[in-house]
Amino acid sequence: MNYRHIYHAGNFADCLKHITLSRILLYLQKKDKPYYTLDTHAGIGLYDLSSEEAQKTGEWNGGIGKLIGPSSDPLPPEIATLCAPFLDVIKMLNPDGQMRSYPGSPEIVQTMCREQDRAFFIELHPDDFDLLSDNCGRDRRFFLREDDGWSALRSDLPPLERRGLVLIDPPYEEPDEYTYMVEQFLEGYKRWSTGIYCMWYPIKARRDVDVAAQMIADAGIPNALRAEIIINKLDTAHRLNGTGLFIINPPYTLHDELAVLLPFLAKRFGLTAQRSSLEWITPPK
Ligand SMILES: C[S@@+](CC[C@H](N)C(=O)[O-])C[C@H]1O[C@@H](n2cnc3c(N)ncnc32)[C@H](O)[C@@H]1O
Repeated sequence: MNYRHIYHAGNFADCLKHITLSRILLYLQKKDKPYYTLDTHAGIGLYDLSSEEAQKTGEWNGGIGKLIGPSSDPLPPEIATLCAPFLDVIKMLNPDGQMRSYPGSPEIVQTMCREQDRAFFIELHPDDFDLLSDNCGRDRRFFLREDDGWSALRSDLPPLERRGLVLIDPPYEEPDEYTYMVEQFLEGYKRWSTGIYCMWYPIKARRDVDVAAQMIADAGIPNALRAEIIINKLDTAHRLNGTGLFIINPPYTLHDELAVLLPFLAKRFGLTAQRSSLEWITPPK
């Protein structure tokens, strides 16, 4: 386990993932009924962009720095509205407008959590788990566990609330992690087929992603959406050329929101390519 998310925090992939996460949470809040969030690969929750690690790669400059940095064009009103729940967390963490802290998924989930909601954060790396514990503090609504996130898809589903989200955001250290992720998701889905699942993947080469999408289709899972932005030509598999999400049982509003967001984000983050795609792997029933 060499992966440390601090090197990548706030990059373009994080921005797409976290904007989408905030849209899903906002949708869940349309009803007063409590919702549950399971974050299987939580990371440390809060990232110091001035740290040596974050400065070393500077990846956040091509992500959150481009989205709302001082030299970026203001966001068009429709985009600003869709990004608002995510950007509100950023503003809360950086009240003077200087970009120093970037929220990981636990920080976004916690900030948006209402009194009646609950969230479980699982992190396997012992050092990252300690940092996550420090960053999350103590609150009866939040449960932290130093554990294998994949096993939580068996042990922590279905939740009592019967409504909510599972965020699956592994580090992709192993070449077979795309197919492994889908296999593990299917274990969770077997136990809770009505939950929303949001799975992140890097796009280096197209084939790995296509194989994983086909596995979802072959498993007969309905209502599966695939959302991607590509920022570099896919002429080498040795860099992060794009980023994507498989979203199962998305809120019915999410497709149209992403249809507006993705082309904008591809253009804002794009380098040698500026493409986006949004397609149903399998349509809603
Ligand atoms: C991409 S990062 C997570 C980022 C976080 N979800 C966010 O959006 O801020 C992946 C994390 O998974 C952790 N990890 C790796 N293998 C794991 C496993 N089997 N179970 C739980 N966590 C794991 C890594 O230590 C790392 O912190």
